Formats: sequence, structure tokens, C-alpha cells
Amino acid sequence: MISFRNVSKSYNGQQAVHDISFEIRRGEFVFMTGASGAGKSTILKLLHHDIFPTSGVVQVSDHSSDKVKARHIPYIRRKIGFVHQDFRLIEDRTVFENVAIAMRVVGEHRKKIKSRTLEVIADVGLYGRAQDKVANLSGGEMQRVAIARALVNRPFILLADEPTGNLDPETAGETYNLLDRANLGGTAVLVATHDLEMVRLSGHRVLHLDGGTIRPRTIPRAGARPMRRTAT
Ligand SMILES: Nc1ncnc2c1ncn2[C@@H]1O[C@H](COP(=O)(O)OP(=O)(O)OP(=O)(O)O)[C@@H](O)[C@H]1O
Ligand SMILES: [Mg+2]
Repeated sequence: MISFRNVSKSYNGQQAVHDISFEIRRGEFVFMTGASGAGKSTILKLLHHDIFPTSGVVQVSDHSSDKVKARHIPYIRRKIGFVHQDFRLIEDRTVFENVAIAMRVVGEHRKKIKSRTLEVIADVGLYGRAQDKVANLSGGEMQRVAIARALVNRPFILLADEPTGNLDPETAGETYNLLDRANLGGTAVLVATHDLEMVRLSGHRVLHLDGGTIRPRTIPRAGARPMRRTAT
């Protein structure tokens, strides 16, 4: 469904990711880990067609990045939900407006926009909040709006870039529950995260990036603590 074949991406001659190949199958849940600067966001942006490979091919369904036409990109993105770490919501607009916008840009009918938008707002636990301004919501609630917006067009894959980076542990857990629910509904999920505990608990497949390439990695088992020297 999704594949990267020998993908490299340079910014101003500097390689951010190098010779990356992997696949994500329909309905899979995959975590992506790696230190800051390892290339996680770059991979998500390549998948979303926000940027294009310097070499290699990103394949999303039957579209390949080396052959795609500009006019097809909105339709590819419609099938890929993207949750940004900073939410990217329009704060002076309502919850409804923020979610509906993703359907408006692909020209859906008004009636369909209304019913589907209200449905997905309820699905993420914000029933009754559709007319609230986003500026008045908590961080966890804003995250729910961002997830609702990413899901409203029924994407086949949901991408999330450090979705819990700014949330307290309980709210982060609720966010993972929402991602799990989307996944149980058949949507594939790819999450970039530093939250190794969550990765370990989930048991999902992990793509580990190190300096722009994929490397095998074992997640430390439960209770394992990194060895530290204590200052005396
Ligand atoms: N627009 C850009 N212009 C120049 N260099 C960039 C750009 N975006 C990313 N890079 C560089 O590419 C490399 C990978 O960055 P990327 O944002 O993909 O890392 P990341 O794994 O998402 O890190 P973090 O965990 O901090 O979000 C870094 O060296 C970064 O400085
Ligand atoms: Mg990043």
C-alpha cells in the first residue's frame, strides 16, 4: 500500500535521509523512533507529498512520487491523515470549522460535510463541542480536533508526528487510545515518537532511524533501566 524504495532526501546538499526502503501494509500500526534530527519528520513529509525525494521513489497506493502530477496531490493527501505535533488548528474558528475544512478542500457536498464532520467529532469524544472555538480548548482537546480533522476523509493511513510530545501522560494515553481505535477501524497508522515506553507496551512494529538510515533496534524490556553512574 505504501512503500519507500531507496529514498534519499537532501536539503541544500545535506542528506537528511539516506537510502531508505520500507513498506507499510494495509491496516498496519507502525512506530518510528530515532533521536532528534534522525529524519522522522522528513519521512512523514515525503509520505504526505509535502516534499519530494532527491532520489528513490515514494509509492502511495498507485501513485509514485516520480510520476505524480501536481493536480493529483490533493487527492493523495485526502487518503493520508496528518496529525502535526503543534496541531496546526485555526484557533479563532470552531471545532466544526477546523474539521470540516479538510472535506471542503476536496470539494465534498455541504450535507455530507456536515454529517461526517459531526460524526467524527463525536468519535473523538468531543460530542457537543462542535461550536466551541478551538482557542478555548485544552491541549488534549485540541489534539482530538487535529485527529478528527485527519480522519474526516476516511484516510487509509494516519500519520502522526510526535502526537503526544506536548501532553501529560494521561492525555497522551488517551491520544494513543484514539489512534488505536482508528487502527482497529482499518486505518493504517504511522507514529513518530520519542515515547519508547509506549512503543514497547504496544508491541507494534518499529522503524528505527539513526542519522537518516533505518537500523535494527531492540526496545529495552520492561523495568530495564539505562546504567548510570551516580555522582558522589
Ligand atoms: N527544511 C529543511 N531545511 C534544511 N534542513 C532540514 C530541513 N528540514 C529538516 N532538515 C534537516 O534534516 C535532518 C532531519 O530532520 P527531521 O526534521 O526529519 O528530524 P526528526 O527526526 O524529525 O527530528 P525531531 O525528533 O527533532 O523532530 C536534520 O538534520 C534537519 O536539520
Ligand atoms: Mg521531527
